[in-house]
Amino acid sequence: MEHASNPLALIRQRIIGARQARQASSTPQTNEPGMPNTPDEPLWRPGLDPLPEDSICPTCSRMFRAHPAIIATLAAKGMRAVGVRFCECPPGPPPSYSDQVAAQRLKYANLPHADSPRTFANFTPRRGTEGARSAAWEYATGMAGYHMLVLTGQAGTGKSHLLEAVARERLTLGGSAKYETVPHLLDVLREAYQDDAKLGFLDVFERYQAADLLVLDDLGAETVTPWVAEKLTTLVDERYRNGRDLAIATNLLREDVARTYHERLASRLWDARTGMVCSVALTATDYRALGGGRGR
Ligand SMILES: Nc1ncnc2c1ncn2[C@@H]1O[C@H](COP(=O)(O)OP(=O)(O)OP(=O)(O)O)[C@@H](O)[C@H]1O
Ligand SMILES: [Mg+2]
Ligand SMILES: [Zn+2]
Repeated sequence: MEHASNPLALIRQRIIGARQARQASSTPQTNEPGMPNTPDEPLWRPGLDPLPEDSICPTCSRMFRAHPAIIATLAAKGMRAVGVRFCECPPGPPPSYSDQVAAQRLKYANLPHADSPRTFANFTPRRGTEGARSAAWEYATGMAGYHMLVLTGQAGTGKSHLLEAVARERLTLGGSAKYETVPHLLDVLREAYQDDAKLGFLDVFERYQAADLLVLDDLGAETVTPWVAEKLTTLVDERYRNGRDLAIATNLLREDVARTYHERLASRLWDARTGMVCSVALTATDYRALGGGRGR
């Protein structure tokens, strides 16, 4: 057979096969040569025709622009590469599978301060933060018996810093985490309720609940309506009942949460009975007032 030894002939053969299959189907093909081409409708993309494995980038799943099979295929189809996205990954060895998983987890985690990560290593020991720091460290490293960590305290005491440090430590240990501020979480949930939402409410809810560790920052910074109180209580309650990890920070006191949200929410966040929850207050002064905190 001619194409057994000749890769270009093999590709040509596949293209002819695919074209015949398309002509046989009754669906009109808007991507045939000569048809108008819109920028958001790729003329051709991986998957439309089989291609050699090494012509597709394992990292981004896009085509290598300079691969002979890609050049030959585009040429054979008489197509310009309009709307086709090529690999733009930096040169070098492709990341390993575990590197790819770690990169995906980091993206999903949605952590703030990508350029200047807040970690345990750059958390300065300060008076009034000792208890929170050690509780957060125990929790992050899986040495704690509790599933919920609740950090309370005034502005600038280091609550968000410690939450971020916990999430980063968990990622380093191979777990998944998702960080979100409560006001933004509620915006996202509200949006999912709209008729034209891309993802339905339950899908969005599930996206948050899928994380091994859910990190909710700034409880109390949102406008509380009965809807908000109910959704937040449901989210926390689901974690609480199933013994799943939740770390949360707030300026509010227990009685504020009970009054503005729900007694049910307060009783879970300040549960001192079951050992499921560690609520710890930071009593330090405002770090931002020292000129030490960069940004939020
Ligand atoms: N002990 C600390 N060591 C190093 N940096 C700190 C420390 N405490 C706070 N910071 C830094 O100070 C800034 C404010 O801290 P953080 O955002 O954690 O405060 P917060 O308690 O969450 O305040 P708010 O209630 O306003 O959200 C951040 O940039 C944080 O990294
Ligand atoms: Mg904060
Ligand atoms: Zn790539």
